[in-house]
Amino acid sequence: MTAAGRELHLNAFLMEAGHHEAAWRLPESNPRADFDLAHWIQLAQLAEDAKFDSLFLADGPALTGSGEFRPPGQLEPLTLLTALSQHTSRIGLIATVSSTYNEPYNLARRLASVDHVSGGRAGWNIVTSATPEEAANFGIDDRLDHSSRYARALGSVRPTSTSPNLPGPHVDHRSARWGAEHSTAESGFRLVPAGPRR
Ligand SMILES: Cc1cc2nc3c(=O)[nH]c(=O)nc-3n(C[C@H](O)[C@H](O)[C@H](O)COP(=O)(O)O)c2cc1C
Repeated sequence: MTAAGRELHLNAFLMEAGHHEAAWRLPESNPRADFDLAHWIQLAQLAEDAKFDSLFLADGPALTGSGEFRPPGQLEPLTLLTALSQHTSRIGLIATVSSTYNEPYNLARRLASVDHVSGGRAGWNIVTSATPEEAANFGIDDRLDHSSRYARALGSVRPTSTSPNLPGPHVDHRSARWGAEHSTAESGFRLVPAGPRR
C-alpha cells in the first residue's frame, strides 16, 4: 500500500473520570462518572465524532485498588456497551471479559447479542484473570496456572470466532468447566449468526 493510502487507526481506552487516579478530583470532573450513563454516552459520541475506530473498556471480576485514591467499581462492560450502541452508529465497541470466570456458552451468547444489537460493532478483549482477588470472588483458593487459563480461553474463543485458524464453532464442555477432566468431545454447539458488519 502506498503511503498516501495508509490509514491511522485510533482506539479510545476510556476510564471513568480519566486514567489518572486523581482525575476525578478536578473541579470539572464528575466523581461518580463510573456509574453515570450520560457521561459514557458523551465520551462515546466525542470519540465517534473524532473519527476513532473503536472505544475500549478495561475490566476484571473483582474490585481493584483500595478505593482510597479513586472511586472503586464500574459498570459491567457488555451492559454499558449495549447502552452505548444505541447512542452511536459507527464506532467499534470493545469489552474486556474474562474467559476464566464465564461459561463459554454464556459468554458467546452475550457477545453475539451485543454484536447484533450494535449492528456488528462488538469486540472482545479476552483476558484470563490471573489475580487472587478475582479467584476469591468465585470461591477459588488457588488460581489456575497460566496454561490452564489459556486452554480454557481457547475453548471460549472457538464458539465466538469465524477464524479459519480455529476449529470452531464448537466448545469442549467438559474441559471448559472447573475440575473436570480434559475432553476433546465436540458438543455441536451453534451460535446465532453474527450481526451485520459495517
Ligand atoms: C493495554 C492493556 C490492557 C489490559 N486490560 C486488561 C483488563 O482490562 N483486564 C485484565 O484482566 N487484564 C488486562 N490486561 C492484562 C493482560 O490481558 C494480561 O492478562 C496480562 O498482561 C498478564 O499476562 P498473562 O495472562 O499472560 O499472565 C491488559 C493488558 C494491556 C497491555
